[in-house]
Amino acid sequence: RNHRSRTECRGDINRLNAHFLEIYQSLIPPEEEKEKQKQLMALLNKHVTNEWPGARLYLYGSCANSFGFSKSDIDVCLAMGDADVDRSEILLKLADILKSDNLENVQALTRARVPIVKLMDPVTGISCDICVNNLLAVINTKLLRDYSKIDVRLRQLAFIVKHWAKSRGVNETYQGTLSSYAYVLMCIHFLQQRTPSILPCLQGMEITYKVNVDNVECSYFDQVDKLQGFGSRNGESISQLVWAFFNYWAYCHDYANDVISIRMGNLLSKREKDWTRRIGNDRHLICIEDPFEVSHDLGRVVDKRSIRVLREEFERAAEILQYDPNPCVKLFEPY
Ligand code: CTP
Ligand code: MG
Repeated sequence: RNHRSRTECRGDINRLNAHFLEIYQSLIPPEEEKEKQKQLMALLNKHVTNEWPGARLYLYGSCANSFGFSKSDIDVCLAMGDADVDRSEILLKLADILKSDNLENVQALTRARVPIVKLMDPVTGISCDICVNNLLAVINTKLLRDYSKIDVRLRQLAFIVKHWAKSRGVNETYQGTLSSYAYVLMCIHFLQQRTPSILPCLQGMEITYKVNVDNVECSYFDQVDKLQGFGSRNGESISQLVWAFFNYWAYCHDYANDVISIRMGNLLSKREKDWTRRIGNDRHLICIEDPFEVSHDLGRVVDKRSIRVLREEFERAAEILQYDPNPCVKLFEPY
């Protein structure tokens, strides 16, 4: 624990609540965007079921996990039923079909880490990436959405953190910083750790939802309507939580030894995960366990240079929230 870690935040922190809530409100997608997404999904669905009657389309990622901002691109997964299909072949075929409709910029990127078809729909103005059989992403999208229904402070905190990360340029996995998905997991973990806790650990409760995808058993308690008011014993405000979140990642997290795990609702040790040394390109400099693919560290994209950038940004945010007379301006200042 770093000597600068603080247990007390500034006395006037709550005057930031209104400002944070305003930012949150302004980033929520309006209802008409959801309508346009449905319209595009219906069009895609028509083409897909025409060609592959047994296939299904699912929305995943930020457009479906409730952590998406207004005007985001949408992520779509084409589920083929058969797990052994040749993805490239399917994607090339799909691109051909979609090109013949009036969709724009249709491209099959078959060599990407996650192969996709990209396109833009001129009618709705929505851009979209379609992947094949990435069902774990569909399931983790549901898990995140279920968590967001338990306490509104999760969605508020994650919006502020994502907005900060995008403004500060630390939401770029190709540059070694973290994905939006990783930031949401950090927020869930953080709210599970408050005392009293604001979020439960859904994977540690009675199982009400269970699927097996790609040989991974995904199960948890998904009757989240029964958990309304779970966090109400904790009265922390959004500004207190934002302050504490950055203070944690700046000064309290033990980067050398700890792994955050929303699956366990707790910290794990790098030793028990065998994430203590570099293997291939995985350096494990900040460790965030995927809730279902437990051998995946979402921090694996982070390298020696970008861990410094990240930690400096966490410290910068913590210092601004502690001392700056006008923190909301400084916090989201473009880098
Ligand atoms: N995903 C995943 N594993 C990763 C990264 C992403 O399973 N290592 C899946 C998750 O389902 C995630 C989705 O891909 O929700 C999209 O992830 P991401 O690109 O991080 O962004 P969004 O949540 O879509 O956020 P935004 O586009 O708003 O930045
Ligand atoms: Mg996305």
